[in-house]
Amino acid sequence: MIPENAGPAAVIVLAAGAGTRMKSRTPKILHEIGGLSMVGHALRAARSIAPQRLAIVVRHERDLVAGHVSALDPDAVIVDQDDVPGTGRAVEAALHALHADEDLAGTVVVTYGDVPLLSGDLLKELVATHEREGNAVTVLTAVLDDAAGYGRILRGEDGSVTGIREHKDASEAEKLIREVNSGIYAFDAAVLREALAKVTTDNAQGEKYLTDVLGLAREAGGRVAAVVTADRWQVEGANDRVQLAALGAELNRRTVEAWMRAGVTVVDPSTTWIDSSVTLDEDVRLLPNTQLHGTTTVARDAVVGPDTTLTDVEVGEGATVVRTHGSGSVIGPRAAVGPFTYLRPGTVLGEKGKIGAFYETKNVTIGRGSKLSHLGYAGDAEIGEDTNIGCGNITANYDGEKKHRTVIGSGVRTGSNTVFVAPVTVGDGAYSGAGAVIRKDVPAGALALSIAAQRNTEGWVPAHRPGTRSAELAQAATNDSSSTPASTEEGK
Ligand code: UD1
Ligand code: MG
Repeated sequence: MIPENAGPAAVIVLAAGAGTRMKSRTPKILHEIGGLSMVGHALRAARSIAPQRLAIVVRHERDLVAGHVSALDPDAVIVDQDDVPGTGRAVEAALHALHADEDLAGTVVVTYGDVPLLSGDLLKELVATHEREGNAVTVLTAVLDDAAGYGRILRGEDGSVTGIREHKDASEAEKLIREVNSGIYAFDAAVLREALAKVTTDNAQGEKYLTDVLGLAREAGGRVAAVVTADRWQVEGANDRVQLAALGAELNRRTVEAWMRAGVTVVDPSTTWIDSSVTLDEDVRLLPNTQLHGTTTVARDAVVGPDTTLTDVEVGEGATVVRTHGSGSVIGPRAAVGPFTYLRPGTVLGEKGKIGAFYETKNVTIGRGSKLSHLGYAGDAEIGEDTNIGCGNITANYDGEKKHRTVIGSGVRTGSNTVFVAPVTVGDGAYSGAGAVIRKDVPAGALALSIAAQRNTEGWVPAHRPGTRSAELAQAATNDSSSTPASTEEGK
């Protein structure tokens, strides 16, 4: 059953090519821009026109590519191309796989796995034009200043498309043509099938060219037309890392611009990088050098940056996140993080909470209004509400073999340099003194002190470090204050 107002019968994504110019152990189409592989972008555009079937043709690094595709899009049909090279052969293999169960009729769209900026909107326009005009083939083209390497669009006296000539097969006159084949097409399924059966490998590259279908379709009396796009980025492939970076920058420019149009303030678009999977609310402010990755979301009125990288982080309304590197964390509404803060996965900071300068956190839940203001590590811990963790506090969560939890209640005040030797629990409203090493549970409301009394050994430095600058200065100071009675031990 074909659902009503369904998209084309099929989209075929070509992805069998080697991509040697990437010089990489990673298959070309698995390289990422905007936080998603190139083939991920291709699949997303393909899915956006709601095809009844989606096939992807693989060969080079077959298992890696197929595994990646299946993880992203479990319904995609993986098609293996045989030894016969060429885009025509790739499409033939896909058609064969797709009409194993039913004869494919209607529109078949062909796209590439390495053209990541192609949008669903442009594909929709291609299919709409193709079906409205009743074409046998509609090819997406662009006019380039430098058309070298591309197949050229051949047009008749009346301007109609008569065929495509590959660069390597083109005459000098044909090489002057600047309108190029993007490699993206809409075909009538029956025309495509019949024409491909006639395509040979009789050309400069010894390949079965998909482009030959256009001439054959026209000879068979079909209408062949082009949709010319003025947006060359949408038909550009990435063959090497230079092109990959250029496409990545352009994708980012588009993403950042779309967010600004949606009400996000971006102070410096050129140093702000936002993955396509990120979501932002109106009146978010992004300061320079901010990178937002993965499933990061930022709620209204929050300010992120400068110099902040967040991956899979949820930032609450009105929160501020300054010079922070964070992943897998939740920052509550009106909470404050940074500067110089490292949030590791599992950090959950409550509303109006604070994780301040030079703090590292991991697997820690911090209640509403609690503050970890400066210099410390909190890991595998749970902290209640309105608790103030003093400067330099550490949860000693790892005994060398296992991780242990620290549980700290609400309304707790800990002195500077308190160390929590986990597993340990501190009750509500408890205090700890500076330098306390908390090895035993602290009951609610107790003051925990674990410090030994301080002992001063008078004259130790001049006696044990004679002749040093310290000894000299000590001597001078002792002489000056010889009238003052010497103190000995504190805390007696
Ligand atoms: C092809 C077109 C050319 C067009 C250009 C746009 C043909 C004959 N030529 O050129 O007119 O201007 O794309 O970039 O179609 N692929 C397979 N199996 C193969 C060969 C290629 O799946 O046997 C895939 C590749 O992975 C790639 C795409 O098809 O995604 C295009 O292949 P590529 O070799 O880059 O394009 P050209 O043949 O140079
Ligand atoms: Mg080729």
